[in-house]
Amino acid sequence: MNVPNPTNKDSNMAIFDFTENLQTSIDAMDSEHRFLFDAINHSYELIRTDKHQAYTYFDTVILNYVEKHLTHEENIMRKNNYPDFEQHLKAHTLFRKVVMELVPAVQAGDPKAFMEVYAISMGWLIGHIEKVDKKYGKWYAEQNLTAKINAEESASSL
Ligand SMILES: [Fe+2]
Ligand SMILES: [Fe+2]
Repeated sequence: MNVPNPTNKDSNMAIFDFTENLQTSIDAMDSEHRFLFDAINHSYELIRTDKHQAYTYFDTVILNYVEKHLTHEENIMRKNNYPDFEQHLKAHTLFRKVVMELVPAVQAGDPKAFMEVYAISMGWLIGHIEKVDKKYGKWYAEQNLTAKINAEESASSL
């Protein structure tokens, strides 16, 4: 399936592409991941033009959405008895902890903390989708659960 890249439409400044190899085949998860890529690219543009707006956007939009996404993903795994759930949850928990430790400094306007949390989040997100999230996509497909999950989740994307 060809995935439209939401970042191509308005600039050549996009640094992260949502490529086909990042798809899990769970539509709600793919669309949330795609939103995050779009938001990350937007925050990258903001860093170059308006740092304070970038901090606010990162704090209010991206972190908020990441948390909603992680919870949504965990709910689907739990509901479908995904066997690697505990391990996947550990990865999410560790990420939450690392980010939360930096958030107060970001909120206080510390540019170093912002760049650190930005780099950690982007790196983690891309690596996590590719190496960890894709595993549930494969397992759901093997269990013939993909269509069922897509039908259940079609009305509940964020
Ligand atoms: Fe995940
Ligand atoms: Fe995810």
